Amino acid sequence: MTRFTFPKDFTWGSASSSYQIEGAWNADGKGPSIWDTFTHQPGRIRNEENGDISIDHYHLWKQDIHLMADLGFKTYRFSTSWPRIFPEGTGKTNPKGVAFYDRLIDELLKRKIEPWLCLYHWDLPQALQDKGGWPSRSITGWFSEYAAFMAQKFGDRVKYWITHNEPAVTAAVGYLLGEHPPGIKDPLSAIKTLHHLLLSHGMAYQAIHSNSKKPVKVGIVLNVSPAYPATDSKKDLEAASRFDLLNNRSFLEPLLLGQSPVTEIKLVKTLLGSTLQPGDLDQINHLDFLGVNYYSRTVVKHDFKTPVLELAQVHPPGSEYSGMWEIFPEGLFELLTSIWKRYGASAPNDHPFPELYLTENGIPVPDGLDFDGRIRDERRIRYLHDHIFQLQRAIQAGVPVKGYFVWTLLDNFEWAYGYEMRYGLVHVDFKTQKRTVKESGYWFSRVMLNNALD
Ligand code: GCO
Repeated sequence: MTRFTFPKDFTWGSASSSYQIEGAWNADGKGPSIWDTFTHQPGRIRNEENGDISIDHYHLWKQDIHLMADLGFKTYRFSTSWPRIFPEGTGKTNPKGVAFYDRLIDELLKRKIEPWLCLYHWDLPQALQDKGGWPSRSITGWFSEYAAFMAQKFGDRVKYWITHNEPAVTAAVGYLLGEHPPGIKDPLSAIKTLHHLLLSHGMAYQAIHSNSKKPVKVGIVLNVSPAYPATDSKKDLEAASRFDLLNNRSFLEPLLLGQSPVTEIKLVKTLLGSTLQPGDLDQINHLDFLGVNYYSRTVVKHDFKTPVLELAQVHPPGSEYSGMWEIFPEGLFELLTSIWKRYGASAPNDHPFPELYLTENGIPVPDGLDFDGRIRDERRIRYLHDHIFQLQRAIQAGVPVKGYFVWTLLDNFEWAYGYEMRYGLVHVDFKTQKRTVKESGYWFSRVMLNNALD
């Protein structure tokens, strides 16, 4: 047996998001979010499910933190629900919502778990959607108001702050493909959304730093994915580089280099028009750490029918698939080394590359309780093992990744898929809310304890 030991200060954690786990959708003064509205509309979500109750983490938070501590987690990445704090999105705050996160953070610290707080994991206050949502530039001000308030409240205890989770998904799936709220299919709105998400990151970056009582680090989480052409035809090669540009570079480059590649596409340049204002890119170009989420690679072919993107995703035959994605661990090595090669190794001393973390990785498997009450989710163990192995290869190749966050601790609400996709290291009986650690949970616990992969 060979063993790879991770660097001494390497962080192991789990990640979650407010809408997916909290439930209590209208409790204690919380305002509705766009996900509440969307999931209550017929035909939007598989089996008409929603996050009204979900796994009731809003009430079971203490038990969940204890479970985390018992398994040996040292870090927890979670998101706060903007409409739980500001029911109307701006203006008056909701003390009971604030108190919930206060208790949560205190308990985490008591259990020696470092909180990583993400401000936006998609649950926009409905009130702000009604005022125009992300396509409106005013939202950058509302987001900074929220960020400043949170930093004043929690900046004494929370060191790691994430502004946005997967902004590309908000722009593309929410405003171009219409499969997430607000369910809009409009290229112009999608481009504006993309820019305002980035700009709001830059403004929140300043707001968090200047309102926190202690030194903090502010980062972002991106769903970057390595792009592969379906064939080596010129059209497919171009489609792959277009995907790389729109999904990866148009986020990485404003944040890391203060420049935007989106204008390389004529149509996008026209659509963007005066949305991109002088000074915006300088404001965006701030990052203390970069989080990347990796589940799979993206194989694409040219397809003129999809607006703007002009590409379609392909599922290569002969590959292995989970309920949602192709399983392709080598893509993680490819992703990390290519980011490092493009932007890391060459970063100037006065503008160094930010700290790098793998902020999500995981797989849905349907395994339930066996007769003896155990959950033998071997496919998850294999998936995690193979990805952590690729991560270790990237570190050996010189990419300074500082931590790994598994998605996720507990089975929960998986967006448009409802409850069908179980991503947890811990099984949740959605009727009784009973939590049962899966074999993968015990396995991962040993990896964390040893800080090593055998
Ligand atoms: C994210 C992800 C999560 C998903 C996970 C599994 O944006 O962080 O979408 O919320 O649950 O990626 O699909």
